Amino acid sequence: LHPFAVNEDGHLTIGGLDAVNLTKKYGTPLFVYDVKKIRENARAFVDTFREKGVQAQVAYASKAFSSVAMIQVAKQENLSLDVVSQGELYTALEADFPVEKIHMHGNNKNIDEISMAVEYNIGCIVVDNFYEIELLEHVLKEQNKEMDVLIRVTPGIEAHTHDYILTGNEDSKFGFDLTNGQAEDALQKLMKIDGIHVKGLHCHIGSQIFETDGFTMAIERLFQTLKGWKDRYDFESEVLNVGGGFGIRYTAEDDPLPLSTYVKSLIDKISEQVNENEMAFPEIWIEPGRSIVGDAGLTLYSIGSVKEIPNVRKYVSVDGGMTDNLRPALYNAKYDAVIANNVNGTNKEEISLAGKCCESGDMLIWDIELPKVTQDDIIAVFSTGAYGYSMSNHYNRFPKPAVVFIEDGQDKLVIKRESFKDMVQNDLSYE
Ligand code: LLP
Repeated sequence: LHPFAVNEDGHLTIGGLDAVNLTKKYGTPLFVYDVKKIRENARAFVDTFREKGVQAQVAYASKAFSSVAMIQVAKQENLSLDVVSQGELYTALEADFPVEKIHMHGNNKNIDEISMAVEYNIGCIVVDNFYEIELLEHVLKEQNKEMDVLIRVTPGIEAHTHDYILTGNEDSKFGFDLTNGQAEDALQKLMKIDGIHVKGLHCHIGSQIFETDGFTMAIERLFQTLKGWKDRYDFESEVLNVGGGFGIRYTAEDDPLPLSTYVKSLIDKISEQVNENEMAFPEIWIEPGRSIVGDAGLTLYSIGSVKEIPNVRKYVSVDGGMTDNLRPALYNAKYDAVIANNVNGTNKEEISLAGKCCESGDMLIWDIELPKVTQDDIIAVFSTGAYGYSMSNHYNRFPKPAVVFIEDGQDKLVIKRESFKDMVQNDLSYE
């Protein structure tokens, strides 16, 4: 189910290293990434485009997990990078990421973010709204610079994992609407501004999507629009960015497609549309986040208190929870786990895995069958590599966990565990 193995002691291994030893060295809670798996995921996208001879940029959506080390891996894998804030851009610059391959997103980019993006000559800004067009025009004039942009549109397709909501006028805070003329107004405005080059369109239909239909439906809508724009403005999209959202496996219920299948279906659909509409083949950009890091990471926790309510439930608590993985509390997200020091134990029982925050909703997994747990067992929760650390928080003032990368049989600390001192460093005395 998950790309991790078990050694002769019955311990979980990650990239060949014993998970229990890692917890002895680094403590818990601990995020551990198998870097080989990150690279495999990245290559599944990049290589498929290359094999098909299609010009593409695979931009890692750094919101899924942004850190200097991760962005260095993205750089080594020749990925581009999607950032949505000055903080993510700053991290990319710290990692020495090639600026021309950085794309900036956001539905409310402020003047500081746009100024920073322009100052550092990033590759592309994905323009989201009319306010931003004014800010960008101002900043480009002020800095006497030029900028490539994509126009983010809402194609009226929203993916909810297995089904798609088709809306005429999409109710979304992101992007320009295709159906009410706003996207076309944006194009007209942008084409008149000196220093702005409109490279094409962008859309993102959702996240954790298991089928290709949503993407192909969106592509059809983009081409309907582009056909009109070609006739009316002689505008041709050099780039088509269809966003991210490719689904991964969290539990046995999830049945994701191979990453290459998504890529092939995008290429096939765009080829079809290019031919039907007699257009030039655009460069294809995608922005996977979850599918690059999600299944490459897991979290190790120590088990502490166990509360049994006879005939009701057994609560097993760990030393983390919604502070390092907000997804169960926020989205009712499901996860799978094993006892890292007793993976194949046979004496099984059903338990529920609780976090340690003062909040009843702080449950990591409800009702999971595991070998009978004892205090101080180590539990591994799988597929926490995306939107885990990146959405971690300081509720109850729990320090953020450490993050370790494993590759070639070596473990390397890439984010230090926060100290209590780190947490109060911005607190000022009032006496
Ligand atoms: N591009 C855009 C414009 C996006 O908004 C997103 C995700 C991505 C790319 C990357 O999507 P991915 O490949 O990772 O699915 N916190 C939520 C997910 C939020 C996704 C937001 N946008 C979660 O934990 O499920």
